[in-house]
Amino acid sequence: MPNNVSFPNSQYSVTFPRNFVWGAATAAYQIEGAWLADGKGESIWDRFSHMDGTIANGDTGDVACDHYNRMESDVALMKELGLKAYRFSISWPRIFPEGFGSVNLAGLDFYNRLVDKLLEANIQPFVTLYHWDLPQKLQEIGGWTNREVTSHFADYAAVITKHLGDRVSNWITINEPWVVANYGYKSGEMAPGIKDEKLSLQVAHHLLVAHGKATQALRSDNSSAQVGISHFLRPTAPASRDPRDVEAARSTWSRDGRWFLDPIFKAYYPPDIWNEYGTRAPRVKPRDMSLISQNLDFLGVNYYTRNVMSREGQVLKVPGSKYTEMGWEVTPDALQKLLLDISKEYKLPPIYITENGAAFEDQLTEAGECEDEDRLSYIRDHLLHTRIAMEQGVDVRGYFLWSLMDNFEWAYGFSKRFGIVHVDFKTQKRTIKKSGHWYSNVIRNFGFPTEKQVMDKIAMAGSDRTERK
Ligand code: FCB
Repeated sequence: MPNNVSFPNSQYSVTFPRNFVWGAATAAYQIEGAWLADGKGESIWDRFSHMDGTIANGDTGDVACDHYNRMESDVALMKELGLKAYRFSISWPRIFPEGFGSVNLAGLDFYNRLVDKLLEANIQPFVTLYHWDLPQKLQEIGGWTNREVTSHFADYAAVITKHLGDRVSNWITINEPWVVANYGYKSGEMAPGIKDEKLSLQVAHHLLVAHGKATQALRSDNSSAQVGISHFLRPTAPASRDPRDVEAARSTWSRDGRWFLDPIFKAYYPPDIWNEYGTRAPRVKPRDMSLISQNLDFLGVNYYTRNVMSREGQVLKVPGSKYTEMGWEVTPDALQKLLLDISKEYKLPPIYITENGAAFEDQLTEAGECEDEDRLSYIRDHLLHTRIAMEQGVDVRGYFLWSLMDNFEWAYGFSKRFGIVHVDFKTQKRTIKKSGHWYSNVIRNFGFPTEKQVMDKIAMAGSDRTERK
């Protein structure tokens, strides 16, 4: 395998702690395929992607990266990359085809084997219980609008920990409740495709309740379980200093960020937004807030970009800024600021960046290589700003690249590539991109070479911290 990224003997390097967790992430529906194999039930994403006009180019996750059948060679690839950790999600309908009731042992067996293979390769599993593929049978009783689903989720969590808890210690209950509520139930651009703001607020609350119940279930079976949640955090910046722009940025962050962080770390919803929602605010039962705000072992931060807001509440393009294929501004310094801001605002447990990465249009060269310089710089700059935030006192324990390999990017289908490994969806051939080779070297070297100016920046961040203390 060609490895055209070797680090020069640089005088300076950005170094990370020896025990920093270097990982990559995926999600079941985006990579597994095998949508009906071995007794798996239908998920809301199977149903949604089979409907006309929902996904770019009519793509579906029926086959995706065929990871279900290629798991062993994919783990070998992770080992070759030198990953220390792998974040994957479990498909709930593989385990409970009906959503609850009888367990499908063949489904469990797949994840059992995956965990064993990872451990054999010295790769720590980080398991996400819910990355959006609800069993369709549960949608038929209202999906996340129905509070009963939160108990089914806890039962599912209990079964998973009973079977994998002897080998898995790190758990993420739910991936990005904001996205599920907003794209699944408000804009309807994602499964299950519902457009109802009031319902979406109830869904958001139920997702947090489900997180709380699953946290209890995971811990009751295994006292050493490390439990976290992954939040989609997209900070906002005002378009100008005009108070109206400032207010638009503040209120957007309050609805998208604080609404999901306050309940967990402060045990209440932001009162200003609660009042603004009025009759649309969710029904909350007496014990809910203590359930939601149980201590966590870590917070998962999924960061891609920031939003620059106008007073009309519109997201503005910033002239001169670089944008990814998703149309997302490349803003690594906003990640650093986000990490600092939330660490000041909340009493946080350690943080893992559970997703960060970029889609760019990748072409294989005639020699079959992928020179994805844009992605490489994106990752390097985000790692650098993470490292500076650490120097400023933020406790970041690890970093998971989104994504290990190109995959089914939800409503965009296969049109957006986020992988550090290129996938040819016709042949299923995997090719490590330049960014992948680079990342691999970062892992092996505990960091990457840099220039003197960057070192000065880091040193300055460190002295800032000393002064603040
Ligand atoms: C996140 C999702 C992940 C992937 C990336 C690009 O919001 O969690 O599955 O789609 O965005």
